[in-house]
Amino acid sequence: FFNCKFKLYFKTAFAISHYELCLCKNRNPVKVAPYSLDPGDPAPAFSVPTLDGRLQYEPGMFRDSLIIHAFTNRSAFLETMWSSAEALGALVHGLPESAHVLLLSLDESAPSDVLWMKEQLYRAATHRGSIMNKDTLSRLHFCPLSVFSLGNWIPAVLYSWGCSGHNCGLSQAVFTSSDWKMPVIVKRLDARYDWLMEHWGQRSYSLVDAGDGCAPSPSVKGAVAWVSEEGCSFFTKVQNMAKSNASGVLVYAGAGQPIRDMTCEGAECEAAPLDVPAAMVHLEPSVAQALRLGQTVNVSFQTTPSPNFFISIDQQGALAEMGWFLYPTFSFIDVNKLSVTCLCPTGVWDRLELDVSLSCPSSRDASCPQWDHTVQLFVCCDLLSEMCDLELGRWITAFRRGTGHWLTDVSPLLPLLDSSTCSFTMKTVPWAMPWILSLNLRFSQTNNTTEGTPLLPFKITSLFNGGTFDKDYNKRYQPFKFTLPVSAKKVELYAVVTGHGSDENGCGEFCVTSHHFTVNSNYNHTLTFSTAGSPLGCTLKVPEGAVPNEHGTWLYGRGGWCDGLQVTPWRVDWTGSSNSLLYRGLFEGRDPNPSAQPGYIIMSSFLIFYK
Ligand SMILES: *[C@@H]1O[C@H](CO)[C@@H](O)[C@H](O)[C@H]1NC(C)=O
Ligand SMILES: *[C@@H]1O[C@H](CO)[C@@H](O)[C@H](O)[C@H]1NC(C)=O
Ligand SMILES: *[C@@H]1O[C@H](CO)[C@@H](O)[C@H](O)[C@H]1NC(C)=O
Ligand SMILES: *[C@@H]1O[C@H](CO)[C@@H](O)[C@H](O)[C@H]1NC(C)=O
Ligand SMILES: *[C@@H]1O[C@H](CO)[C@@H](O)[C@H](O)[C@H]1NC(C)=O
Ligand SMILES: *[C@@H]1O[C@H](CO)[C@@H](O)[C@H](O)[C@H]1NC(C)=O
Repeated sequence: FFNCKFKLYFKTAFAISHYELCLCKNRNPVKVAPYSLDPGDPAPAFSVPTLDGRLQYEPGMFRDSLIIHAFTNRSAFLETMWSSAEALGALVHGLPESAHVLLLSLDESAPSDVLWMKEQLYRAATHRGSIMNKDTLSRLHFCPLSVFSLGNWIPAVLYSWGCSGHNCGLSQAVFTSSDWKMPVIVKRLDARYDWLMEHWGQRSYSLVDAGDGCAPSPSVKGAVAWVSEEGCSFFTKVQNMAKSNASGVLVYAGAGQPIRDMTCEGAECEAAPLDVPAAMVHLEPSVAQALRLGQTVNVSFQTTPSPNFFISIDQQGALAEMGWFLYPTFSFIDVNKLSVTCLCPTGVWDRLELDVSLSCPSSRDASCPQWDHTVQLFVCCDLLSEMCDLELGRWITAFRRGTGHWLTDVSPLLPLLDSSTCSFTMKTVPWAMPWILSLNLRFSQTNNTTEGTPLLPFKITSLFNGGTFDKDYNKRYQPFKFTLPVSAKKVELYAVVTGHGSDENGCGEFCVTSHHFTVNSNYNHTLTFSTAGSPLGCTLKVPEGAVPNEHGTWLYGRGGWCDGLQVTPWRVDWTGSSNSLLYRGLFEGRDPNPSAQPGYIIMSSFLIFYK
């Protein structure tokens, strides 16, 4: 393989169908009008006026990613996002360095909308004494033209991509009363997904005034409670109405106040989820008056499709979807950042990186499989060797997103490829729906002479594997003894460990497990999955490459992995340590001992010898 003429036999397991070896990806052909642009297509050039001048987008010239956001005040989701200093703070203080945002409005009021948006942002930027980040603000471009006046391809993409689910479409409450000729239709924002059941039925509910909802109210039984935002927390209101057997809760904002993201606070969030749907709306005078006069008012719930509010252009100039924003905050404004150039030098490789990307049967996220699945790459270069079918890399697929792209340094495993012919097998579970995976093996030279002559891995010994995480988990491990090869200058422990499944403690996916590699029982190298089960454990991995805005519960921390992310190998310098080692895997510092349905640990671990 040193000449890059390495034969690849690629056994496909399920729909994993395509690999490239040191080839740079070809762009899709440029499309021309009438536009039917899809994700992955190159974004055509455009230029728009902005409050500060012009934004000029030229393919190949614009090196950063560009997010295009179209606001409309008809969406309560967007109104809330733009009214909360917290939600906007994530944009001014958390915008990825290589990203720009073009801010537009879908409505006739575009000139005043973008002025208002800019004001809101400046206010948020300095909220609670924060310093305004000039660099970020210079990457926010406010265009005062309505989307319908742009005269370029952007409206076509916003309209034709559409979207569904969170942050998309216009969620509305429809009020009817026997005394009105026409229904009154207003925007609504459903309460945040994680503390109550938010699903409204398809039916018409009767609406009953329940004051501020800070005390139970028997009259709301079987009806939707109409409740003001004053007096007590959202949680207390909804809990009181649930206790009174209401079918749902509509909280209305105080006069002139924006709609807010109804969520729980502190200890409220520890309570069991409440089992009624709830949403927030503006105070609608005709509804308030009808209720005051004792007229019957009914309410039902609908979502009217809308253009997409967020699209993006990645650093390679390709159009991309932005996925789900689970709740109204700009924390979800992120982009998959990996930008790679292809290297195929000749000489002695000391680095091997796996460049893997994931896409779906069609270019739209809607065609992507549900759920997260483990994908493992196995390599066999010598059928007769015990080193056959060892794991070279592991990834977890993104839930309903087609944009994952990851680079994993697996240089210590270079000796596994020491042959002219190797076969590679990608494995996943049989029930996974199809996605398309592309793998580049990137060999390179770092010429790293930090420690005198560069050290090269030359020998690998396989250590321990995982298994069912039950009370017998640790009984199967025996101390591993090895002799140091004479020429070895460095020894390294290399492990890829992930926890899956769910027993009564959420093990191994959502529980804190630790993995100890013990030398002479008095010194441990320990890998601990401390963020497993934490509310934002995987959200914080987006800067490391996790695909943002997946469907499902991608936000929560997991046992050594995240949806839409590579599993990063854990490496420990073992030089000079004992030549006997033992592995143990623990749950909260003890042997696991689930009562039923044990989870499991997937582990590959190796000792790597360098000379
Ligand atoms: C958005 O709509 C609400 C009422 O629906 C209104 O109070 C608010 O002023 C509007 N904001 C903008 C920027 O138009
Ligand atoms: C109003 O809601 C009640 C309770 O769900 C229902 O029985 C009634 O048919 C509804 N009325 C109208 C006009 O939709
Ligand atoms: C609510 O419903 C439950 C179960 O049907 C019942 O036991 C309880 O008394 C009801 N509470 C009120 C306030 O109607
Ligand atoms: C490493 O050294 C080789 C041979 O001197 C040279 O061709 C190559 O460009 C170097 N690679 C890097 C990344 O500097
Ligand atoms: C060079 O090697 C040193 C010591 O092994 C390591 O810390 C460093 O990250 C390496 N540098 C590169 C560019 O790989
Ligand atoms: C090493 O880990 C084992 C569990 O495998 C534990 O019993 C022991 O106390 C640890 N030793 C040290 C020094 O942390």
